[in-house]
Amino acid sequence: MLDQALLEARLPIGELGRPLYFFRSIGSTNARALELVETGSPHGTLVVAEEQTAGRGRAGRRWFTPSNAAIALSLILRWGLAGSEAPGALSVLGALGVVEAAEGIGIAARIKWPNDVLTGGRKVAGVLVEAQWHGPALSSAVIGIGINVRPASVPPAEELDYAAGCLDDAAGRSVDANEFLVEVVRSMDRWSARLGTAQILQAWEVRLAFKGERVSVAEGEARTVGRLIGLDEKGNLILEAAGGGRVVIGPLAADLRPIDSRMD
Ligand code: BTN
Repeated sequence: MLDQALLEARLPIGELGRPLYFFRSIGSTNARALELVETGSPHGTLVVAEEQTAGRGRAGRRWFTPSNAAIALSLILRWGLAGSEAPGALSVLGALGVVEAAEGIGIAARIKWPNDVLTGGRKVAGVLVEAQWHGPALSSAVIGIGINVRPASVPPAEELDYAAGCLDDAAGRSVDANEFLVEVVRSMDRWSARLGTAQILQAWEVRLAFKGERVSVAEGEARTVGRLIGLDEKGNLILEAAGGGRVVIGPLAADLRPIDSRMD
């Protein structure tokens, strides 16, 4: 499904996508990218795989990446991260990349805060940021993105924690995975220069799923229910609680569900 030579010919875009490490099968592209961070691989390094045998999801979950059906990619970022950028704010780069690539081929996509990509209410992509700290500041980050392309990439029902789908089903045809990956990188390159700006927040907010609807957000043991209002200037989620007060929720451990279609 993925073509290494073609990707090498199309990348990098701006600062992202070189060097490119391409694997038909690997344990986890994030794990490989973290090793590459340790050995000094530069900003923009991209690790791509068609199959992961030990793909990592958020909150310690497994991420399903069967061969020939999905895209797994991990991007190393090293620039300008000192100071305010938190991993939660970085992860939107990945979600926006997938959403804009989907929009480019006519698929309407939304971001289930903080960073799951939904089409037709089903999750088609997830983002896992693993960051390295230098004292209080981020020194580098790996943004890992898993994208379900073909129907075979949709995990078996017993492994699902949220309804899942794939790009082919959303598009009603076979999506060109190479082209899609290139467009994800293009979008990430564009937005990476605008991290922490009002523009990226706005791009994120206009694509938020369940805006104005009642949702439930779990953070560890705590669960907050309210109407989804939008984002604050740091990308935290703002809910309106039953009494009318506002609740602000940070993205790190959060798990958002619409009230009417909770699977738990
Ligand atoms: C989630 O749980 O929604 C996040 C899933 C992130 C999966 C991607 S696939 C590429 C990268 N390598 C990994 O092991 N995980 C991330």
